[in-house]
Amino acid sequence: MNLILMGPPGAGKGTQAKILEEKHGFKQLSTGDMLRAAIAAGSEVGLKAKAIMDRGDLVSDDVIIGIVSDLMDRPDVKKGVIFDGFPRTTAQAEALDKMLSGKGQKLNAVIEMKVDDEALVARIAGRYTCAKCGQGYNDNYAKPKVTGVCDNCGGTEFIRRPDDNEKTMRDRLAVYNKQTAPLVSYYKAKGNLHVIDGMANIADVTAATESVLSKLKG
Ligand code: AP5
Repeated sequence: MNLILMGPPGAGKGTQAKILEEKHGFKQLSTGDMLRAAIAAGSEVGLKAKAIMDRGDLVSDDVIIGIVSDLMDRPDVKKGVIFDGFPRTTAQAEALDKMLSGKGQKLNAVIEMKVDDEALVARIAGRYTCAKCGQGYNDNYAKPKVTGVCDNCGGTEFIRRPDDNEKTMRDRLAVYNKQTAPLVSYYKAKGNLHVIDGMANIADVTAATESVLSKLKG
C-alpha cells in the first residue's frame, strides 16, 4: 500500500504517519525528517538545505527526488510507504509516478488533511520534542505527565524546530498554498484523492484515515 498524507504544515501528517507505520508496518517516508537528519549529520545536502528550511522555502526538486529515489530501493519499504511531506510540487508528483510505475507499483491513495490556518499556527507554535528520544509534545495539546520530564525516556531536555515560529510558519503556509495545494487537483483528476477533517482530535483523524484504508482493501 502506497499512501500520501497531504496537508499544510501542522496538519498532523507526521503524527498520523507514525500511527499507521506502527499499526500496518508501512514505512513512513518524511522528507522533512530526512533533511533534518542530513543537517544534523553536517552532510553537503544538509548544509545546503538548512537556510532554505529555516526561512520556510522548499528545497530543490532535484535534491528531494534524489533522496526519495534512493530510499525507494531499500528493503524496508516493501510493505508500502506513507509519504509524509512529499510530493510538494508537480515535478515531485510526476517523479513519484515514474518511480512507482518503474517498480511495477501504484499509488493507492492520497489523503488530504484539512485544518484551519489559525489552528495550524497554534499547533506549530506549541510543538516540541524530547532531545533524547524524539517523543513529540505540544504546549497546547500534549504535555508530559510530569512537567519537564519526558514520559517515554525520562529525558529533561527538549528542543523546538528552528522553523516552528509564527513568522516562518506563515511563510511555510504561503509556500504550501502556492506550490503544494495545486496537487489536490492533480490527484483529484487521477481519482485517488480522499479528503478528511484534520481539525478533529488525533484519534478521530486516525479513525477517518483507517476508514479510507479499509475501503481500499475491501
Ligand atoms: P516538514 O518536516 O515536512 O514539515 P511540514 O510539512 O511543514 O509539516 P510539519 O512536520 O510541520 O507538520 P505535520 O503535518 O507533520 O504535523 P505534526 O503531525 O507534526 O518540512 C519542513 C521543511 O523541509 C519544509 O518547509 C521544506 O523547507 C523542507 N522540505 C520537506 N519536504 C520537502 C519536499 N518534499 N520538497 C521540498 N522541500 C521539502 O503535528 C503538528 C503538531 O500538532 C504536533 O505538536 C502534534 O502533536 C499536533 N497535532 C497533530 N494532530 C493533531 C490533532 N488532530 N489535533 C491537535 N493537535 C494535533
